[in-house]
Amino acid sequence: MGNSSASIQLVLLITLSGILSLKTIQLGLCSADHYVGCIYIERKALLMLKQGLTDPSDRLSSWVGEDCCEWSGVGCNNITRRVNMLDLCNRDGYADEATDHAFGGEINPSLLVLKDLAYLDLSMNNFGSVQLPSFIGSLEKLKYLNLSGASFGGIIPPNIGNLSELLCLDLSENIIEPIENDLQWLATLSSLKYLNFEGVNLPKATSYWLPTVSMLPSLVELHFPFCGLSILPLTLPSINFTSLLVLDLSYNSFNSMIPPWLFNLTKLEMLDLTDNSLTGKLPDSLGYLKSLRYLDLSDNSFQGSIPKSIGNLKSLEEFYLGSNQKTVHYT
Ligand SMILES: *[C@@H]1O[C@H](CO)[C@@H](O)[C@H](O)[C@H]1NC(C)=O
Ligand SMILES: *[C@@H]1O[C@H](CO)[C@@H](O)[C@H](O)[C@H]1NC(C)=O
Ligand SMILES: *[C@@H]1O[C@H](CO)[C@@H](O)[C@H](O)[C@H]1NC(C)=O
Ligand SMILES: *[C@@H]1O[C@H](CO)[C@@H](O)[C@H](O)[C@H]1NC(C)=O
Ligand SMILES: *[C@@H]1O[C@H](CO)[C@@H](O)[C@H](O)[C@H]1NC(C)=O
Repeated sequence: MGNSSASIQLVLLITLSGILSLKTIQLGLCSADHYVGCIYIERKALLMLKQGLTDPSDRLSSWVGEDCCEWSGVGCNNITRRVNMLDLCNRDGYADEATDHAFGGEINPSLLVLKDLAYLDLSMNNFGSVQLPSFIGSLEKLKYLNLSGASFGGIIPPNIGNLSELLCLDLSENIIEPIENDLQWLATLSSLKYLNFEGVNLPKATSYWLPTVSMLPSLVELHFPFCGLSILPLTLPSINFTSLLVLDLSYNSFNSMIPPWLFNLTKLEMLDLTDNSLTGKLPDSLGYLKSLRYLDLSDNSFQGSIPKSIGNLKSLEEFYLGSNQKTVHYT
């Protein structure tokens, strides 16, 4: 009797302590879940980056403490805890006091420590026309690179062409010098869906920019306005960019007819050719672009009448044709 109750107590004790130690383990796991932290060398790399940047309004004041995944603008993979996103966009960039919040200074190559970095946004800062450091081309995992309005100068380093996983490249409104820019490196970015060169002066690339981008098979949006381009070739060796939905070639100096290959881009929803010197009659083939919602042909030198086929464009919501030759008229 005494023996059996002792053994029951023993069993209870063992069970209880079992439960307790399970509880302890669970608590341990729980607290490990809470305190996940970030990778030490990645934190050090971010601190070196911070050190190189000028930050007049102290936007990086949260970059202290152990867990760099909690710092503002830093994103981590929630399982590996590696930094995969760096959003340093100056969101006040369009305001009057923009420069008060802009980062400047040096982009430390310590960035290369962030091996899983997939998203890098430096837009609307002011890097004072220094050249974009070429080590950016070694951030192999980059999918999103936004340098819009970041005031980089010099040439675009050709080794950006090594970023084979890049889906989105926005270089718009940078101050990039006209003379030496070469765009051959674009040819290798075969995953690109979005490409924006707005305001980047590209006269040196005028003869081959289009044959190069027309090879990119995944492109959905292509923006080349204000690029100082003058040649819109009438034929192309190959038209691989047939997934294009948005094509913006406005504010250049194209002075030919509308090239026939344009009508192979039958998925186009937005076509902007405004403010060039395009000539000739508006072709009947415009009617092939059945998905068009927005069509801007204004400020060119088109002549003749508007083709009846425009009536086939059932999705068309906006159509601009102002400031062409006086003879353009509706039939
Ligand atoms: C981890 O991230 C993925 C994708 O970013 C998300 O769907 C998921 O909910 C996250 N898990 C936790 C526990 O936050
Ligand atoms: C890049 O950044 C600019 C300015 O912050 C923003 O307006 C633009 O939409 C971004 N581009 C892309 C493709 O996300
Ligand atoms: C990156 O690109 C440059 C210039 O295009 C090239 O010389 C270099 O070999 C490339 N590096 C790698 C690792 O592919
Ligand atoms: C482009 O298309 C041509 C023919 O349609 C094909 O031979 C070529 O491999 C394609 N190139 C790319 C980069 O997809
Ligand atoms: C453009 O489309 C036409 C017919 O729709 C086709 O015959 C032609 O081969 C295409 N051109 C190219 C370069 O793919």
